[in-house]
Amino acid sequence: MRARLAAISAALLLALPASGQELAGHAGPVSALAAAPDALISGGFDGRTIQWDRSGATARRILRFHDGNVTAVATTGDGFVSAGQDGRIALWREGQDDPVRATERAASPVSALAAADTQIVAGFFDGSLMRIDPATNEAVTQPGHEGRVAGLAILPGGDLVSVGADLRFVRWHADGSLASRMSLPELPNGLARAGDILAVVSADGVLRLHSPEGELLPDRFLSNRPLVAVAAAQDRVAAADVDGTVWLLDLPFLVPRAEIQTGHGPVWALAMAGDALFSAGADGVIRQWSARDGAALGAPVAAVPPAPEDASRGAEVYRACAVCHSLAPGDHSRAGPSLHGVFGRPIASAEGYAFSEALRNLDIVWTPETVAELFTHGPDAYTPGSRMPNQRVTDPADRQALVEYIARHSR
Ligand code: HEC
Repeated sequence: MRARLAAISAALLLALPASGQELAGHAGPVSALAAAPDALISGGFDGRTIQWDRSGATARRILRFHDGNVTAVATTGDGFVSAGQDGRIALWREGQDDPVRATERAASPVSALAAADTQIVAGFFDGSLMRIDPATNEAVTQPGHEGRVAGLAILPGGDLVSVGADLRFVRWHADGSLASRMSLPELPNGLARAGDILAVVSADGVLRLHSPEGELLPDRFLSNRPLVAVAAAQDRVAAADVDGTVWLLDLPFLVPRAEIQTGHGPVWALAMAGDALFSAGADGVIRQWSARDGAALGAPVAAVPPAPEDASRGAEVYRACAVCHSLAPGDHSRAGPSLHGVFGRPIASAEGYAFSEALRNLDIVWTPETVAELFTHGPDAYTPGSRMPNQRVTDPADRQALVEYIARHSR
């Protein structure tokens, strides 16, 4: 009986990806990551919050809620939180496609988030702090820093630690009153907690450890360039610089364990859970590393396979499209539909892709000429209301090379 049940559920799982296929990947840089033992959440410039299936390395849910960059994400006991440039904070629960709660747009973008069972705290670019009680949904805002809140952490007892552009390290009681305040030697760019050690990365390339009161513990110079991301778990901390190098160090003495050259431009977000370290940034791909020795683990979580190369100018121009458009039949796994068979096809008619209402109401047949027109005028003018970000290919020779390339590779 048990074997049969297993067989049935395996069949169900195999049947699912077809309907979920448009759900995969960020169409642009990734700016936020959060991980828990069985969860990985990412946020990006494409306004998406993605919940990943860590074992299958596929996107489980793509949630479009924020306008503009999703600047911070955090996991909670039964879900996760996202926050954005739009100044809103959304609480998500497992299995629900709309947030269970979302705050009004704040005057300022959110720059940091921290979540624990009893509270969710957001820090804003204007220095204010907002606490949300997930049980009552009550939100309280208070002044925190003069300038951007660069990092937040909730201590086991419920106190909050924040670091800000005013070079302050502040510990707050759970009721919002001030517990202690220290000065930081350099501009902080991020904060992570492991037990009662707080790790702060700074613009001077130094990783500094602090006690919950802000006293300086060991520190280590890592890079000539600013450190921009930090993550910590159990007895380990990871920090990344703007060049995409990631350092993995042991706590509490910052003994170096591994140095990882991620090799794909700036890393803007790190997350750690158990033995896995995740990095992501400018190229939109989330990569997985061993938090023990820095070895690359598995396949990248959101790799965009390269478009066919044929050493033509058209292949070069198409590179800008490949982040969002596959040329393989039925592969709608990126932000836009597959362009396989696009010439001769009426607009918004590709099967299995959820086109916008705006596109479905237009009356265009795609040909080399109409696609060239599309990028002469840009999607906003040629296909008003399109979800494709506005972009133009201004050089007529490039447009010609582009459509010839698509013609060669789309059938
Ligand atoms: C950031 C993502 C993104 C990039 C980059 C992008 N597109 Fe798109 N594209 C989309 C989305 C999303 C849609 C669907 C829009 C909608 O439904 O409103 C789309 C739609 C289209 C369509 C209409 C498809 C149809 O079946 O009706 C064409 C043609 C197209 N894109 C071509 C291109 C080309 C060529 C490039 C590069 C010059 C490009 N796109 C770059 C996201 C993108």
